[in-house]
Amino acid sequence: MKKIAILGATGSIGQNACQIISENPDKFSLEFFLFNKNMKKAQEILKTLEPKFFITSNKEIFEKYKTSYKNLLFVSDLEKIYQDSKIDLTLSAIPGSEGIYPTYLGCRYSKVCAISNKESIVCAYEFIKNLRAKIILCDSEHTSLEQLIKNENKKEIEKLILTASGGPFWNLSLKELEKVSYKDALKHPSWNMGKKITIDSATFMNKAFEIIEAALYFNIKNIDVFVHRKSFIHAIVKFIDKTYKFSVSFPDMKTAISYCLNYPSRLPLKIPSLEDFLPLELKLEKKDLERFKCLEFGFLGIKNLDNILFRSLLVFADDLAINLFLKQKLSFLQIYNFIKNFIEKNIGKFQNPKNIYELLDTFKMLKEKYSCL
Ligand SMILES: NC(=O)c1ccc[n+]([C@@H]2O[C@H](COP(=O)([O-])OP(=O)(O)OC[C@H]3O[C@@H](n4cnc5c(N)ncnc54)[C@H](OP(=O)(O)O)[C@@H]3O)[C@@H](O)[C@H]2O)c1
Repeated sequence: MKKIAILGATGSIGQNACQIISENPDKFSLEFFLFNKNMKKAQEILKTLEPKFFITSNKEIFEKYKTSYKNLLFVSDLEKIYQDSKIDLTLSAIPGSEGIYPTYLGCRYSKVCAISNKESIVCAYEFIKNLRAKIILCDSEHTSLEQLIKNENKKEIEKLILTASGGPFWNLSLKELEKVSYKDALKHPSWNMGKKITIDSATFMNKAFEIIEAALYFNIKNIDVFVHRKSFIHAIVKFIDKTYKFSVSFPDMKTAISYCLNYPSRLPLKIPSLEDFLPLELKLEKKDLERFKCLEFGFLGIKNLDNILFRSLLVFADDLAINLFLKQKLSFLQIYNFIKNFIEKNIGKFQNPKNIYELLDTFKMLKEKYSCL
């Protein structure tokens, strides 16, 4: 029986994981989970999976429910719970920079840490990679790459290719992109995900983070992006003999999540088979850096791969830009310039963090400095 902890259990990734756990009670037990404020979903998880503890990072929720639920804890107890729980596998699925410290604890105290929160890898890979946990990436592209590369000679890999769905705006002109709203950006054509990653997919910032994540994790810098609208090709590896290996499956995050939960072996999964969709359209399109400029940050990230401050400012600026976009204080096309200017303005003002605490301090200082936005 694998003892699991989920960071972000009430979200899109977390709920998929809970479903897989509930369908495999002989394989997994949920020991505890972390959430923010969605008490309704937290109560549902309590009922179906009966974890020993559930932990909120929201003070109001904690104060309101702590007397009714003796096993409800506040996030300040997260490290202690980890120390007492002997977790086999943590699934890290809290979006944005908020996910970094919980992921760090997951890596410090679990045997395996499956990371969906790509921002943790982008900002903190150097600080989490040599802790106790074996890190595996839980994202359709990277989980696919892991499987494609397994047993291959790294010297024979020419490049990694990440696919992108293109998001809701792929068919729009630059002129049309001037007018899109956050409501339009939240309508993703092929994936049902949380708000932040859905907006990041529309701007291609999600793909930029994924490029950096892949470069750091696989230690390969030659990375490209192709657009595949149907989203069933998740990743491609090109070898030096011009052979291409594709990873193909129905677009459902349960494939990556179940692979990670049961790592290193596979689980049978009740999702549609690709045979049901024949003939399959394998159309792959070129990336478009003119309309979707945020993708550039991924390639810039590869050039600055050793610069943790650059990568962290990128993540922080994107969190900020999304909040401003959701508040309608920034237009869709202004997001790129906002992030670019933010990095240029701040890169000389902070030190490159040398450990996780310096990194968290940098985020704290940035939050204080920009709390008015
Ligand atoms: N969704 C996908 O298909 C997908 C695919 C690949 C990668 N990812 C990555 O996976 C991560 C999660 O994405 P998602 O789509 O599952 O997000 P989501 O649906 O928005 O869920 C976020 C989860 O994190 C919790 N949370 C948010 N802020 C928190 C905080 N400060 N402290 C503790 N818990 C907090 C939320 O709790 P409440 O519900 O209580 O607010 C919720 O459980 C992201 O980094 C994303 O990039 C997602």
